[in-house]
Amino acid sequence: MALLYKADPQRGERWRQLFAAHAPDIEFRQWPDIGDPADIHYLAAWQAPDDLATLLPNLKALLAISAGVDQLNLATLPAHLPVARMLDPGITQGMCEYATWAVLSLHRDMLRYRAQQQAGVWEDHALVPASQRRVGVMGLGQQGQAIVNALQPFGFALSGWARSAHDLPGVACFAGDGQLPAFLAQCDILICLLPLTEHTRGILDRRLFAQLPRGAGLINMGRGAHLNEADLLDALASGQLGGAVLDVLAEEPAAADHPFWQHPGIVLTPHIAAMTQPDSAFAVLLDNIRRHQRGERLNGQIDRSDGY
Ligand code: GLV
Repeated sequence: MALLYKADPQRGERWRQLFAAHAPDIEFRQWPDIGDPADIHYLAAWQAPDDLATLLPNLKALLAISAGVDQLNLATLPAHLPVARMLDPGITQGMCEYATWAVLSLHRDMLRYRAQQQAGVWEDHALVPASQRRVGVMGLGQQGQAIVNALQPFGFALSGWARSAHDLPGVACFAGDGQLPAFLAQCDILICLLPLTEHTRGILDRRLFAQLPRGAGLINMGRGAHLNEADLLDALASGQLGGAVLDVLAEEPAAADHPFWQHPGIVLTPHIAAMTQPDSAFAVLLDNIRRHQRGERLNGQIDRSDGY
């Protein structure tokens, strides 16, 4: 019985060592060296081949190597195939670090100070206490909840919005389309951590920006396709948004002439907020394989009709 790994080749070697050391009953194979396809029961992948059903006839589960699964074309996967997201504590740690850095950068006006430094300007601006800065998180799954916890010690006024109702200590929780306007109206800094689905594609658009307090900051750590890029440029130009920190783009890598590269109101990073760490993710993946072998539901198993 074998597992096929189809993700970052550099990290593949570490995965191979971990399987050899801790799960020698599972043969580790790395794409494209798939060997006899009939042996492959598990696929650990960032993206899956479209002809998966014919390519791997005995596949029993698809274990995504990522927290998001929108890059998998779910429609092409056999309906009975269980698909799980990667709930790696290493990803969550990375997301918390990035969100904390991005929130503090916007909160402490770092885009402006960076521009001042480049212009040789020594000038201070009023400091807003954290207690008067309202930070809202869209998406209250594993990452969103960890991020509000990571932000608690700074004393921000924290809120969160999700499709379903949540109850989190110290966080004003809003739910569903009906409460979205009330949530947005009180977000000085908005963090998008939503899964990308047909309901959330393009959600960060002019209509949404118009509901934020004037000058609000935006952090997109979800997917590039959540954002309407032209609307962001307009909102920054008009002052409706004060700045944006973006880790994801609809097209990655960004084209050389992409307007975000040089934009003074945008910090752009190349999808590095979090990276699956083999050493912490291995235990999660192996646990899911063992669960499957025992006939249990997988951790992070997605609902195929919701897409996440
Ligand atoms: C990365 O973007 C992930 O979904 O893990």
